Amino acid sequence: MQQSSLIKPVLGGAYPTISHGQGVYLYDKEGKDYLDASSGAVTANIGHGVQEVMEAMVKQAKQVSFVYRSQFTSEAAEELAKKITELTKGDLTYSFFVNSGSEATETALKIAIQHWQEKGKPRKQKIISRWMSYHGITMGALSMSGHPVRRERFTSLLESYPSVSPPYCYRCPLQLDAHSCGMACASELEASIRRIGSDNIAAFIAEPVIGAAGGAIVPPDGYFRKLKEICEENDILFIADEVMTGFGRTGKMLACEHWDVKPDIVTFGKGMSGGYTPIAAAVMTKEVMEPILGGSRSIMGGHTLSANPLSCAVSLAVLNYVEEHELVEKSADRGKDLSRGLKQLARKYSFIGDIRGRGLLIGLEFVQEKVAKTPFPNPVNVTNAIIELGMKNGILLYPAAAGLDGVTGSAIIISPPLTITEEECAELLMRIDITFQQFNETLCKLPS
Ligand SMILES: Cc1ncc(COP(=O)(O)O)c(C=O)c1O
Repeated sequence: MQQSSLIKPVLGGAYPTISHGQGVYLYDKEGKDYLDASSGAVTANIGHGVQEVMEAMVKQAKQVSFVYRSQFTSEAAEELAKKITELTKGDLTYSFFVNSGSEATETALKIAIQHWQEKGKPRKQKIISRWMSYHGITMGALSMSGHPVRRERFTSLLESYPSVSPPYCYRCPLQLDAHSCGMACASELEASIRRIGSDNIAAFIAEPVIGAAGGAIVPPDGYFRKLKEICEENDILFIADEVMTGFGRTGKMLACEHWDVKPDIVTFGKGMSGGYTPIAAAVMTKEVMEPILGGSRSIMGGHTLSANPLSCAVSLAVLNYVEEHELVEKSADRGKDLSRGLKQLARKYSFIGDIRGRGLLIGLEFVQEKVAKTPFPNPVNVTNAIIELGMKNGILLYPAAAGLDGVTGSAIIISPPLTITEEECAELLMRIDITFQQFNETLCKLPS
């Protein structure tokens, strides 16, 4: 193998070279096809090789690709901001464009702090977040992330923002019963606010469905209502991190719609461009913006490439495609089909402990013993083994952490493009079945 100068996730790892993509399939240089059952990192929401997006890309590139946001606005950026307001039913009226989900959550953090400063409450600077969460890899975003493995190397540099238990009912962190707990995990937010003092807190951030840090954990009904009420009572903004869930992934335009909860700030990324270009956003209500509009009139944030016309035109084409092809509804329907198929597989393979999620964001948690929900002694190896077998069998799966400490559980996410057809779902299930069968055989060979 030739020496490579490119730093990859596993240094020295063997990665196939991709040739092209079409629909839900990717093809490598050797001609092998991969069913993209993870949409990469839950990103390629409209599938690969969509003609309309390429046309929008070329059209915009021929006009202008880059202008600096301090000097110009562009039709593409204006149209995209308007489209997001429309798609969020007019609740989120102001968009700030950045280039990655991490930048989006970090921008949301800064906007929340600035909101309170301009309201004459400069002490409100802290953020509260939950354990089993991931909000990004930059320092502010990582400070908010309750992901022990990703925090570990930088602990001394990070703020201790995670302080609330997640709604992980499969293995309740508070050792309570889901039917009688009274959502004690949500009440923890109140306790946390009392300890820190609401005068010091700008915002609470949460993923509506926990993704990479939990494997598609869906909270009980009423959970987010309760959190939002606690935020309102304490003058704390609620930031919904919809980087993974936004724009149809869970079968609703925003995952928060499942519980009819209205966040003050929402972050988007991933599916916002379907991976066709780097773009993300922090989007907010007029109430969040008002003190800033009536005060300094400038948000302290932004990047050189923020709101570049090329990325905005591409994102606009992707969101139009989602709308015109009714992909939100399709995500809900195909999600039900896939979950049904996966539940049948769970009867066959005892290592599938839990199947959860919404729409086409489906999590599978693996266990050594189903009834006791005993995690495998080497959970990371289990996840990696399944993903590697999947790769060999031409199916891409996304690894997720599970367990409160991020290492004592193993999970994967299944999240194909929202364009997936019924036939392709059947193919996906067949490739997973083969993969699980092979994994089961390796388990039988392990010394007990
Ligand atoms: C919920 C959530 N927020 C933020 C991020 C960070 O996004 P990015 O990797 O684009 O920086 C991710 C990425 O996985 C995510 O899932």
